[in-house]
Amino acid sequence: MPESNSETKPVDQTTGVNVAIGWAHDFERPARVYAHQNKLPIINEMPAWGGLCLYLDQSGWSLIESTQGKLDHKSAFRLSLAAKYTAQGRDPLINAMGKANTILDMTAGWGTDALHIASGGCSVVAIERDPVVYLMLDQAAMFAGEFAAPGSLRFLNMDSAATGFQQRLEAELQSGHEFELVYLDPMFSGKSLKRAKSKKPMSIMQQLVPPPEAGNESALFANAMQIAQKRVVVKRALKAPYIDGRVPQGSIKSKLLRFDLYKP
Ligand SMILES: C[S@@+](CC[C@H](N)C(=O)[O-])C[C@H]1O[C@@H](n2cnc3c(N)ncnc32)[C@H](O)[C@@H]1O
Repeated sequence: MPESNSETKPVDQTTGVNVAIGWAHDFERPARVYAHQNKLPIINEMPAWGGLCLYLDQSGWSLIESTQGKLDHKSAFRLSLAAKYTAQGRDPLINAMGKANTILDMTAGWGTDALHIASGGCSVVAIERDPVVYLMLDQAAMFAGEFAAPGSLRFLNMDSAATGFQQRLEAELQSGHEFELVYLDPMFSGKSLKRAKSKKPMSIMQQLVPPPEAGNESALFANAMQIAQKRVVVKRALKAPYIDGRVPQGSIKSKLLRFDLYKP
């Protein structure tokens, strides 16, 4: 465990959360409050087989991998949402957005695609259900301050596949909010992730987020088709089957990926 005061929890079979909680000296209280709010039980040791620790110190939360019960602080992963997009050449994700300006990303993940789309000038609301992934997004958005890009970007912690999602979203956004396009990227594994440019965030994501339950993709797609006014875009690995077996009206392809386009 870290040199400083900390307690941790291993994979919790009841909540399905794959993370321990740890803190540097003086950060016990806020870390415990977060653990309590998110129902993360706290225990005393990192499991010997390794695992991830959600760690709080003066720089905020980070995710740290462990080996043989010891945290490797050098491996700390912190999410940054600094906008670095410049529209250049062929960009399949931006092309898939067509002329839409208001986008709902129902599977935010690390917010990379949402940030890219917002940086292209769109207004994006991005939803993430995992509490730890959302915490990292929320913190990164706070550190990014005023979003320095042409569009806007906002994250919400909700389950996009839940029954009544649309109503809850409207209540959260205080209505008046319509989405021309809904974007889905529920990919969990596959060659495209293994070959992803940035392996570290992907590897952390796969350790952190449990595989989605059967029926998640169908429910996401059904909600997306209900909410989108003009288009639903689904990101898939190039050779992956269509979401929910539904044949799209078109696809935009890159070397490793496919963006399937559906008319609601
Ligand atoms: C492959 S990642 C998305 C990556 C993202 N496009 C990016 O650019 O970083 C999938 C994410 O969708 C989230 N997710 C899956 N099902 C969800 C649901 N029903 N509601 C909200 N988020 C969901 C997972 O927790 C995971 O963070």
